[in-house]
Parts: sequence; structure tokens; C-alpha cells
Amino acid sequence: MMLQVAVEAAKVAGKYLKQSVGKIKTIEQKDGSDRNLVTEIDKRSEEMIVEIIRKHFPSHEILAEERGSQGSSKTKWIIDPLDGTTNFTHGLPVFCVSIGIEHDNEIIGGVIYDPNLDELFTAEKGKGAYLNGRKMKVSQTQTLSKSLLVTGFPYNIAENPNHAVERFVNFLMKAQAVRRMGSAAIDLAYVACGRYDGFWEVALNPWDMAAGMLLVQEAGGTVADFHGGKFSVYQKEILANNGHIQNEMLTACHIQNMTSKAESKY
Ligand code: IPD
Ligand code: CA
Ligand code: CA
Repeated sequence: MMLQVAVEAAKVAGKYLKQSVGKIKTIEQKDGSDRNLVTEIDKRSEEMIVEIIRKHFPSHEILAEERGSQGSSKTKWIIDPLDGTTNFTHGLPVFCVSIGIEHDNEIIGGVIYDPNLDELFTAEKGKGAYLNGRKMKVSQTQTLSKSLLVTGFPYNIAENPNHAVERFVNFLMKAQAVRRMGSAAIDLAYVACGRYDGFWEVALNPWDMAAGMLLVQEAGGTVADFHGGKFSVYQKEILANNGHIQNEMLTACHIQNMTSKAESKY
């Protein structure tokens, strides 16, 4: 029942986002920089989602990107009403809605809806993960050198938090290729369905990861911190992959294992 409500909310909001491309009236900067944007569309999408959840579960806690935390309950809905806002403001059709459901401090449900490709990713704890109703599995790639990875950068990347730049270079040297989509939730959904073999990022928020981490786990993958420790959506490191490349990714996460810089031939 909770998952059905999450699906309904994600679809309603996702359709609204798609219709709103190119119709943004106000773009605000959240932290005074030219990064970390929010539009009236992010806020309206969040209102739509919260309205649907509240109609069914008025006593549940809400943690949503644009309004923060509301209420207190064993069950918490963790919502990103528009993941990929920078893409959205440029008309780049890579964005989604992400809704995670936490119960007793554990993520038990997750829905990511990409309205551009009409792709609905769903997972319930212990019940597997699905893409448009078909069971998903992580990839079978066995080595980092054959892996297609994805990552993202925090808005304060200019401060290079947690060696984000060096870690990126390290993976670039060791993997087959590295992509950058601009939506952490889509990155995780794509690891879950096997399009990517692995993902890492620093300084994400719970709403970026809650649904996606469950998708990866339920599709047979691994989600951990950069030391291979237990993952929590409230921490600032995420390493997600198909399980086979976990050890190689863990090694590459650490800056002392930095590949020496290739000499330029030009
Ligand atoms: C952002 C995206 C991006 C990631 C950023 C997030 P937003 O979320 O997920 O891929 O690199 O760190 O903040 O702001 O578009 O919801
Ligand atoms: Ca986000
Ligand atoms: Ca967002």
C-alpha cells in the first residue's frame, strides 16, 4: 500500500516536471553561489507529492528537500521532488522524482520515476527491484577495467570536499569509462538495472539516495561507505556497485591508491 502511494505520487509529480520543462519562472540559488539551484517547479512538485502522501498517511513523518523535516513518526517519507535540477533548468531531459520510505530506521521502500523515458523503478525490502514491472538485476561485470561507472560532484566541488577530484581522476584511470549524469537517483537506478556497474559520490543528502540504495540492494548489488562499512542515507559517502567490483572500487576510493598521473604526449 505504501509503495503504491509512492508510485502514484512519483508519477503525478514526474508528469508535472516533464510538462514544465522550458516554463520555469524563477530560479533561485540556495547558497548564494551559481550552483545549487531551486525553481518554483521543484517546490510545486514537492507539494504535489506531500499532498498525496498526507491524504493516505497523515501521521507519517516527511523529510523532503525543499521543506526539510515535518512531524515525527516511525515511518518517514524521504523525498527529492526533482533530482537533477541543474539539468532541468537547461532543458536537459535527465531528471526524476525519488521517494524513499523509512520504517524503524530502515529503508523499506523506494520509487524513482523518470518521466522523460517513462521509466518507473521500484523496490520493497526483501521483495526485489523492478523496472516498469520487470525484475531488475545488477550487471555481471567482474573487473573495474571492464566497468562503466557513474559519479556526480557536490555543489561545493570548488572546495574539493573529501578529495572528490583526486578520487574522480583515480577512477577515470582505472575504469573502462566514467559518466556524469547530474542525477544521483538515476545513477543508482541505473546501477540497479545493470546499465552501470558502479557509482560513488560524496556529500549527498538522504533524499538523493534513499530510494536508489534500496533499488541497488534489492537488485543484488552492494551499497556501502568508502571503507566497505554499513551504509546509512544520513552519511556523506556512498559506494554502490554490482558486488563483483566492490573490492576494486574500495581500493580506488582511497587517495593513497591514486594512480600516478599519466604523462602528457602533447
Ligand atoms: C543533485 C544531483 C546531482 C548530484 C548533486 C545533487 P538536485 O541533486 O543528484 O547528481 O551530483 O550532488 O545535489 O540538487 O538536482 O536535487
Ligand atoms: Ca537531489
Ligand atoms: Ca532536488
